[in-house]
Amino acid sequence: MIKTMNSIHLILLICLSFTILLAQSAPQDAIVTHVPGFDGTLPSKHYAGYVTIDENHGKKLYYYYVLSERNPSQDPVVLWLNGGPGCSSFDGFVYEHGPFNFEKTGSLPKLHLNPYTWAKVSNVIYLDSPAGVGMSYSGNKSDYITRDTTTALDSHKFLLEWFTLYPEFLSNPFFIAGESYAGVYVPMLSYEVMKGLDAGDKPTLNFKGYIVGNGVTDAVFDGNALVPFAHGMGLISDELYMDVTKECQGNYYNPANNECESKLEKVDQELDGLNIYDILEPCYHSDSSSKIRLENTNLPLSFRKLGETERPLPVRTRMFGRAWPFRAPVKAGYVPSWPDLLNSEESVPCTDDEVATAWLNNEVVRKAIHADPISVAGEWELCTGRIRYYHDAGSMLKYHRNLTARGYRALIFSGDHDMCVPFTGSEAWTRSLGYPVIDEWRNWKVDGQVSGFLQGYDSNLTFLTVKGSGHTVPEYKPKEALAFYSRWLEGKKI
Ligand SMILES: *[C@@H]1O[C@H](CO)[C@@H](O)[C@H](O)[C@H]1NC(C)=O
Ligand SMILES: *[C@@H]1O[C@H](CO)[C@@H](O)[C@H](O)[C@H]1NC(C)=O
Ligand SMILES: *[C@@H]1O[C@H](CO)[C@@H](O)[C@H](O)[C@H]1NC(C)=O
Repeated sequence: MIKTMNSIHLILLICLSFTILLAQSAPQDAIVTHVPGFDGTLPSKHYAGYVTIDENHGKKLYYYYVLSERNPSQDPVVLWLNGGPGCSSFDGFVYEHGPFNFEKTGSLPKLHLNPYTWAKVSNVIYLDSPAGVGMSYSGNKSDYITRDTTTALDSHKFLLEWFTLYPEFLSNPFFIAGESYAGVYVPMLSYEVMKGLDAGDKPTLNFKGYIVGNGVTDAVFDGNALVPFAHGMGLISDELYMDVTKECQGNYYNPANNECESKLEKVDQELDGLNIYDILEPCYHSDSSSKIRLENTNLPLSFRKLGETERPLPVRTRMFGRAWPFRAPVKAGYVPSWPDLLNSEESVPCTDDEVATAWLNNEVVRKAIHADPISVAGEWELCTGRIRYYHDAGSMLKYHRNLTARGYRALIFSGDHDMCVPFTGSEAWTRSLGYPVIDEWRNWKVDGQVSGFLQGYDSNLTFLTVKGSGHTVPEYKPKEALAFYSRWLEGKKI
């Protein structure tokens, strides 16, 4: 009897020390023990902290790591990046696929569990990048003048350091994902990872592929996408479409003559007043926007419903800066920040960062999530004007070509009511890569309902639309987003 007890004790002891050993591989000072605003028990472990990229400069990148609510030791690890440039990945955490829905109450928001969080099926790292964005910063302000190439190198360095801190996740399949200007970050970082693997960089990342949503990709494809989108969506007349096509000869990106330019200006006028992030939405979902929606829109109710989200709480009334403003696609060189483009914040219609700003600038919250105080890291802003960013990498097509040719899987998705990076551009550039079609244009469904369309190409390239969604798909269509995301990650038919 006693002997049995002893061996049980021994087994328990072994199990216990094993758990302690396992747990110790993740940095213990990074664990988030409580999340201010949330009362319940966290459905999975959360970690957060900084990785130093440059000791001399004190250049530090902030991450928030949410473990899978399913099977963290087997589920993929996904790095998430928001765009801008200059926008924090807390945009994804707070407004898109993070573990919580934020309810606006009093001074600090109340947090509820998000049934459609991507942490249902994956371990997600939210990274603020480059330094100067969100909670990431540098002790040497010269680092705030930056570019695509530097950003990719720094993020790659971050990944190598991060996986050194969390070696127990090295064997999980690893993916890189993002939206909007992360259409540049994602393929460039993926390419750095691929080069690092070729060069034998340690640790060895189990990199499998990447995901881009409404991503900025190529000045010509993106620049030429708006006019056909506006016509197809019924936003400009047949006459104007014929005129602009005739004058511009399909070159809307870089008008070759005054006639073309003046027709394009007419197109702009017709589109004026629409929400470029979702043409069906005057403002983002909230009490005040639903009021605006009812009073000020001429769209029939069935159309308005298309843009509604299943998120249980109104998340924002204002929204800005996740990509270029209207008709200003990616061009080489300096990329103006939103504060550059605007004289005052009041002049941005339909934008909101209220709950995120209140939460992330509260010192108790910052302490709990291991972000440095405002006095050190600066105030958190959804999209910052503190960096000067240069687009120095040109078109992303060469990176997509290389990565897909090497067998990395790629999912390129598009909310089909986004006018900021319209699906017409993403559809055209994915097709232009010239891979044979292996899954011909068809719909995909959630709960028996058509949720969008997709075309599958050889070389594991998939182009997918999300019906009725705006620029930030997981925000507008959280349930559908989780559905295609989890099916794709698992390599199932979407
Ligand atoms: C900041 O970094 C730049 C470039 O490395 C260097 O020339 C400069 O001396 C640094 N400034 C400070 C205050 O350390
Ligand atoms: C892509 O791959 C080709 C052939 O392996 C190589 O020559 C080229 O430099 C690579 N990189 C880019 C960015 O195209
Ligand atoms: C597609 O992806 C799968 C899973 O990663 C891989 O085994 C396969 O080789 C890829 N196919 C191509 C054509 O690259």
